[in-house]
Amino acid sequence: MRKIQVITLFPEMFEGVLNSSMMWKAQDQKAVEFRMINLRDFGLGLRKRVDDTPYGGGDGMLLMAEPLFAAINDGKKFDPTAKVVLMTPRGMRWKQSLAQTWSDSNDDYIFVCGRYEGYDERIMTLVDEQVSVGDYVLTGGELPAMTIIDSIVRLIPGVLGGENSAAIESFSDGETLEYPQYTRPEVFNGLEVPKVLLSGNHGEIAKWRAENSLKAE
Ligand code: ADE
Repeated sequence: MRKIQVITLFPEMFEGVLNSSMMWKAQDQKAVEFRMINLRDFGLGLRKRVDDTPYGGGDGMLLMAEPLFAAINDGKKFDPTAKVVLMTPRGMRWKQSLAQTWSDSNDDYIFVCGRYEGYDERIMTLVDEQVSVGDYVLTGGELPAMTIIDSIVRLIPGVLGGENSAAIESFSDGETLEYPQYTRPEVFNGLEVPKVLLSGNHGEIAKWRAENSLKAE
């Protein structure tokens, strides 16, 4: 069973996402086990402090090295070979081929979600990979971590329903978008399903789908 741990100040953000739909099914099938690590538990002092101002000045607060190291060590105690993945807009851009590679790899992961303006750079000594979900800045790494976890876990064999659905869907070859699809009824509000899809001619249907698959930018 794959083990995925998440270090976050907001573990409750993950509850709905990881306990619904495909992520719930993956846990139910024992394909994956999720473990939340609350960074606050490793905060310093009575107030469980996790952040401080940057040396050299500047706006905002940084997550301190000490609580982050302690939280990562807690994750490593549970799963010594797990890879540490830092969520940061500075990281490599996530894409479907990476989701496939990471899903196939059988590696376990500890996702580290930042908040505030960043991290004490010394955290990098413990980090194996840095990942970004795109060239925009979010309030924290939680939404990116959920996105990446979902994209990996749904590709674990047996998690997705139809055997072919992962293979034919958008982006699986890295550049083609999925073709348009229709289901019942044949006419809705005067809008008709393309005749070729009702024809039963599999050759023609495949041709139509290829022609109507858009290329990603
Ligand atoms: N944290 C804040 N913004 C992010 C992004 N775009 N990708 C990953 N982690 C982030």
